[in-house]
Amino acid sequence: MIYTEIENLTAPIGVFDSGVGGLTVLNRLLKVLPEQSYIYLGDTARVPYGNKSKETVQQYALQCSQFLVEQGAKLIVVACNTASAVALDYIRNLIPIPIIGVIDGAAEVAANVTKNLSIGVIGTKATIRSEAYKKAIVEHSTKEVSITSVACPLLVPIVEENWQYHPSTELIIAEYAKILHQNSIDTLVLGCTHYPMLKQQFMKEFPGVTLVDCGQSTAEIVRKIVPIPTRSNQETKDSTTRVEFYITDNDSNFPKIAQTFLGFEPEKIQTIDIDSVNKTTN
Ligand code: DGL
Repeated sequence: MIYTEIENLTAPIGVFDSGVGGLTVLNRLLKVLPEQSYIYLGDTARVPYGNKSKETVQQYALQCSQFLVEQGAKLIVVACNTASAVALDYIRNLIPIPIIGVIDGAAEVAANVTKNLSIGVIGTKATIRSEAYKKAIVEHSTKEVSITSVACPLLVPIVEENWQYHPSTELIIAEYAKILHQNSIDTLVLGCTHYPMLKQQFMKEFPGVTLVDCGQSTAEIVRKIVPIPTRSNQETKDSTTRVEFYITDNDSNFPKIAQTFLGFEPEKIQTIDIDSVNKTTN
């Protein structure tokens, strides 16, 4: 893959998702690229993306990307599997900075870690329908693999509702898990960035199965593209001041979930009107 040259090295990295899910990727970015600044956009007014058409998700992803470009981002991480599955090429054609998706890295990890060659993939309806993971896993596999894909549309609202520990969550996961158990998977791709927030519940439902999420692999891909700053321009900042947070509707659990998941209280979360973002690029 060829990326355009990153011009302003000190500019922030833009990260977006439909809601809180992208925080699982931001969390890894903060660890793997600790010297960088970030702008996080959660499109909380329009979550979930996963039940919407490809065309709608493409428009949403474009608007989010345009907003991040307007804020001065030097690179965008699409911290959303749904948008990565259906809108990556679309926004790459319209946005003049490097755009990194989350699917390829996780697919490569899954292809490398499976031993019995039976891999499960769970994600939103749009991600599963796109078969983006299936194609990427097959591309990275040297042997023939069996892939069982299951759409789990109820899990994103559960996470956005902060219901991880509600008794109904385990029952819903168990229902989605049936076909994955039948096919004896040894590796499960959490193909939605919201799902790592249910990691404990998945570990309980799938003992002995390797869980793969896209946070670490995506952060490692970004590390290869964004140069490590020389000592002279390397500032040490703590996480609180390194991320600017934006959401598109403030009636959400975003602040609470962000604090629990990231381990620090976001200094300021600003609400923006995403429809006011320029509708045309160039
Ligand atoms: N977290 C996103 C994903 O990875 C979006 C889920 C949704 O909005 O439906 O797919």
